[in-house]
Amino acid sequence: MNPKKIAGEKAVHYVEDGMTVGLGTGSTVYFSIIKLGELVKEGLDIKGVPTSIQTEKLAIDLGIPLVSMSSVDYLDLTIDGADEANHDFELIKGGGGALLREKMVASISEKFIVVIDETKYVTQLGKFPLPVEIVPFSWETTINTIKKLGCTPKIRMNQDASPFVTDNQNYIADCYFEMIDNPAELNQQLNMISGVVENGLFINMADSIVLGKENGEVTII
Ligand code: 5RP
Repeated sequence: MNPKKIAGEKAVHYVEDGMTVGLGTGSTVYFSIIKLGELVKEGLDIKGVPTSIQTEKLAIDLGIPLVSMSSVDYLDLTIDGADEANHDFELIKGGGGALLREKMVASISEKFIVVIDETKYVTQLGKFPLPVEIVPFSWETTINTIKKLGCTPKIRMNQDASPFVTDNQNYIADCYFEMIDNPAELNQQLNMISGVVENGLFINMADSIVLGKENGEVTII
């Protein structure tokens, strides 16, 4: 059993007729979006708000009706993946580089459901390098300032050695902390740095975690 698939599909049970649904980005929520596409074909009436160009394309291919975030006051529900989640429902996101739109969409969602496999459910955040979206202008200055918070930041690169550019035309600094003692404080400290657009710590946002396991079980926390 693919733990990402079972978690992704299970989360779709939260979706009801008439809802506006935030559609996350990544290989776990991919399975939620595929399932939603099937249900839309069978008559489910929803509108999606995509968190990335990649998800937008997928949803269009599947025939899921989309609306822009600016046209709604709130979303009923968002389903999205994460790179790590701790027992306080604090998350690291942005492995796919979509953290800014993901955070914006989650921030106006009534309910935020996280879909992960069990390997990502941890007691302490930080093994996964924290993605931080920064503006390209003088990025060297920005990562030098980020470094003072106790990490090693590295600009994310493509295979052709060019910098990875987000949907918002920014760079991603992957910040190697190893352990994050106080995620809420770090979230604020990072966003105070000029040059930082947003960081991948999601604090007080997740309502529920749908955890897929290798043995085929799904746990909802
Ligand atoms: C993208 C994200 C993803 O949700 C996160 O990286 C998890 O992805 P996957 O489900 O492919 O492991 O934050 O920016």
